[in-house]
Amino acid sequence: MKNICVVGTGYVGIVTGVCFADLGNNVVCIEIDQHKLDILRAGKSPIYEPGLEELLQRNLNAGRLRFTDNYQIGIPDADFVFITVGTPMGDDGAADLQYVESAAKSIGAALQQPSIIIDKSTVPIGTGDWVTNLIKQEARDVPFAVISNPEFLREGSAVNDFFHPDRIVLGSLDREAAATVAALHEPLSAPIIITDLRTAEMIKYASNAFLATRISFINEIAQICEKLGADVKEVARGMGADRRIGPHFLDAGLGFGGSCFPKDVMALHHMAAKSGCHPQLLQAVMDINTDARRSFVHKAETILDGLDGKQIGVLGLSFKPNTDDMREAPSLDIVQVLQAAGAHVKAYDPVAMSVAEALLPDVVYCATPYDVAKGSHALLILTEWNEFKQLDFDKLKRLMRQPVILDGRNLYDPETIEARGFTYRGVGRGVPREELVSSEI
Ligand SMILES: NC(=O)c1ccc[n+]([C@@H]2O[C@H](COP(=O)([O-])OP(=O)(O)OC[C@H]3O[C@@H](n4cnc5c(N)ncnc54)[C@H](O)[C@@H]3O)[C@@H](O)[C@H]2O)c1
Repeated sequence: MKNICVVGTGYVGIVTGVCFADLGNNVVCIEIDQHKLDILRAGKSPIYEPGLEELLQRNLNAGRLRFTDNYQIGIPDADFVFITVGTPMGDDGAADLQYVESAAKSIGAALQQPSIIIDKSTVPIGTGDWVTNLIKQEARDVPFAVISNPEFLREGSAVNDFFHPDRIVLGSLDREAAATVAALHEPLSAPIIITDLRTAEMIKYASNAFLATRISFINEIAQICEKLGADVKEVARGMGADRRIGPHFLDAGLGFGGSCFPKDVMALHHMAAKSGCHPQLLQAVMDINTDARRSFVHKAETILDGLDGKQIGVLGLSFKPNTDDMREAPSLDIVQVLQAAGAHVKAYDPVAMSVAEALLPDVVYCATPYDVAKGSHALLILTEWNEFKQLDFDKLKRLMRQPVILDGRNLYDPETIEARGFTYRGVGRGVPREELVSSEI
């Protein structure tokens, strides 16, 4: 059993703290947000994440998990200190490191025994060296090591991802410290990649940028499919069966959102440009992502013959299913553009409505998809929640003013929906032949 301190209890921090406690360690989580602390101490999870609250309660009750705002409680006897604070996008596109800086200084000031500081936040290449200096200035003669351990968990399956990671990346110049952190992760039986600090930091950015690139790639293919009459979903299936390509992250739709991909691609682009590179692929990945949202609204505008005065029903608000995270969700842009064009928006999301209310105040929030459908000129599917997969389409049709479904996540089979009397458009599929661009050879 080790003493572990986790600094910052966002998506990454809570999952890290709770799961390491569940492995039998003694964990103290430090959080500066009092409201979050109150929720956590009451055994509640401030975020929606399957399985998390149950684990949180179990480990609180077992006395292995504590929450505090006091660095003097968690740090002095910690064997390992995880930094899991946010690194949001700054004004210039670079990662904003103010939370990392203040966490590092507070950790340094409270250090009393040799410990290993593990950075899990996604940070620009070189940050590990900077954090080392910040801590050194505060920690005086207390020895410590800094390790980069980028986090790859996915919101919506974060607990499962913690216990079954594809790999654990540890970056440090101190190989002994890296081996000690590797031993801490032994119960997870995952492949461990030990490398240097900067390489570990880059592995995280390169991984996220690659996944984002796959999404933008298939969205570009989807645009071409729409013009020429191919079905992008089938195209992706055909591509994905090739073992060199694989099936994941080839879902055409509204582009990537969330707290990671947009900011990380932007931060990598910023780092590259600043260091004299010409990151043209990263620029294209971001441009295509913006276009995916824009062209979806354009589709609605065309089919409805203008948006002014139209009632639009939105199903799904979170940036992906199984989370209430609204950060950079496509729904934010899409709803705002619809409203700016004069549309009235009603919406339903299984878990994200309370978060969305503050961000999209002029939306009518409904208790069911059918309430959303009532009187709507079109239904827009913005998040692929399971519960949208088997709706009662006859009921929807009766309730809607016009039977139009714009499926931003390609949830439905175009022919089936059309057979029920709907006008249907997916992304990269379902365009009627008469609307295709002539492509005679
Ligand atoms: N969310 C994800 O799915 C995910 C996945 C992989 C990596 N990451 C990376 O992990 C990091 C954290 O992401 P997140 O989504 O958990 O962030 P978050 O913004 O949800 O949470 C960060 C928490 O840190 C707290 N905090 C800030 N400064 C602090 C300080 N000095 N001391 C104590 N607490 C402090 C904040 O109050 C907040 O609760 C980011 O760098 C992110 O890019 C996130």
